[in-house]
Amino acid sequence: MCGIVGVIGRADAGPLLLDALRRLEYRGYDSAGIATLVNGHIDRRRAEGKLGNLAAVLGQDPLPGTTGVGHTRWATHGAPTERNAHPHATARVAVVHNGIIENHAELRAELEAEGAVFETETDTETFVRLLDHLLAQGLAPTAAFAAALKRVHGAFALAAIFAGHPKLLLGARQGAPLAVGFGEGEMFLGSDALALAPLTRRIAYLEEGDWVEVTEGGARFHDAADRPVDRAVVVTAVSGAAVGKGNYRHFMEKELHEHPAVIGDTLRQYLDPGTHAVRLPRLPFDPAVVPRLTLSACGSAFLAAHVGRYWIEQLARIPCDADVASELRYRDPPLAPGGGAILVSQSGETADTMAALRLLKEGGQRVLSIVNVPESTMARLSDAALLTVAGPEIGVASTKAFTAQLSVLACLALGFARSRGTIEVAEEERLTQALLSIPGHAAAVLEQDDRIKALAAEIMAARDVLFLGRGSMFPIAMEGALKLKEISYIHAEGYAAGEMKHGPIALIDPAVPVIALCPSGPLFEKTASNLQEAAARGGRIMAFTDATGAPALSRFAEQVITLPGIDPFAAPILHSIPVQLLAYHVAALKGTDVDQPRNLAKSVTVE
Ligand code: F6R
Repeated sequence: MCGIVGVIGRADAGPLLLDALRRLEYRGYDSAGIATLVNGHIDRRRAEGKLGNLAAVLGQDPLPGTTGVGHTRWATHGAPTERNAHPHATARVAVVHNGIIENHAELRAELEAEGAVFETETDTETFVRLLDHLLAQGLAPTAAFAAALKRVHGAFALAAIFAGHPKLLLGARQGAPLAVGFGEGEMFLGSDALALAPLTRRIAYLEEGDWVEVTEGGARFHDAADRPVDRAVVVTAVSGAAVGKGNYRHFMEKELHEHPAVIGDTLRQYLDPGTHAVRLPRLPFDPAVVPRLTLSACGSAFLAAHVGRYWIEQLARIPCDADVASELRYRDPPLAPGGGAILVSQSGETADTMAALRLLKEGGQRVLSIVNVPESTMARLSDAALLTVAGPEIGVASTKAFTAQLSVLACLALGFARSRGTIEVAEEERLTQALLSIPGHAAAVLEQDDRIKALAAEIMAARDVLFLGRGSMFPIAMEGALKLKEISYIHAEGYAAGEMKHGPIALIDPAVPVIALCPSGPLFEKTASNLQEAAARGGRIMAFTDATGAPALSRFAEQVITLPGIDPFAAPILHSIPVQLLAYHVAALKGTDVDQPRNLAKSVTVE
């Protein structure tokens, strides 16, 4: 959620910290701050709001010092004010924290009883006061840090600097990621490889429960029982260059235009280059015999899983459940002995999905995850991980990662179907060809940018928008609605077109645009009838279809946007692009903060 970074540098740490925070800002942008050691003393600068505010503060009042920590915040405890901004500090120690310390109230009461005076309502400050208390008793920083960690419960990553210790950074990981970067005479800590990419590509990840002592010369890792442990240094493929906006106005726009390449790269990962047949790596369950699959994820990733369920059930005839991760544990479903699970996540760090992973593993399910970040916790804790080849996704609203997730799920459905003997070779070839045609068609959809922008101008003044689809287009309708509400702040709902008459049709009037996802195929006629029912009640229908469907829809729809024709199997992937593009243009026209919409963060590491 929040992003944290630490530096032991050769020159002033301030500019490096600020730059790294810029790459972490997607994790939260309620406030930001840095602290450094200036002549052995802790000093800090903090600002409410976006990182630009902190940069302005630092411009007026620079912070020298070669060792420091930085933070960009997505508020959990305490309002997003400067006072609650990290680093939290005393004269002895400054701390940045991502996550939640669950027993903060109990610790606060204990420390207050011993005379500690708190400045904020944050859970983080309890850790700082606890450390301060232990340091005041004469413990060295490492001993105090190790002792304090044993007192805190929750899910967090922490980094700390200590007055009088100019070349020392301590970090800890419990439920939220933390990486150590090895530079030339410089050392770093960061929430992810992206933050560290331009500084160094040599990275070691802390394991669950680890803490690390970073000095100029290197890093000493310890496990939760304080035993020294080795953690492998890997050379990350993440490039600092991937983090620019290029000539685009927003990261989201750039990432939307990466759809063709990302879908193509992801498909190539799972299709044999010679035969184009699906080629899956070793899976943690045998699709030929697995009795049931549970698919789970959050937000857009869940909507991808939802489409995956349709595909796997239809093609491979495996019974599937698809559950929002935050609900799965409360539903506490009976899990099939020998069952499998598929978790979907761009970040691989989403706390709700991680909780689902643990529940499913405890329930004896073999877990396969589909993730975009290879070093993520989810990739490491799953029985196997399939990677989406989307590259870094910086815009908070997921775009290219979503179509990449769909691409993997489509390949899985085909691969499962072959294992179970539920698909003929010719049919598999036909569907594979349909998948392979998507990158080219996606490029053609993007060429309709102006048309979609004009449609955006039509709906930007609406208060409510309905998105309708049937079958595997229903989750895409929900994706269109989710994207629109999260970046343009227009209320939108995605409905199964057949459900309209059971309630939502009451909403229809000329002020509520209806966006229809209606490609030709077996469900076309029924969806078109539902749309006609809405049109008959004054609804303004704006339909995405293809050349086959366009004439019928043009009879009653106010706008018909004709996309390339594609097999209904592959249509959800192709149709994701115009609905995401539509949301983008509405938001850009309204002038909202497209890449960093209010109240959101990219990597949601709290439950
Ligand atoms: C919506 C969006 C979110 C994420 C969700 C899961 O545009 O981006 O709904 O899909 O927070 O995140 P990951 O995929 O990182 O688990």
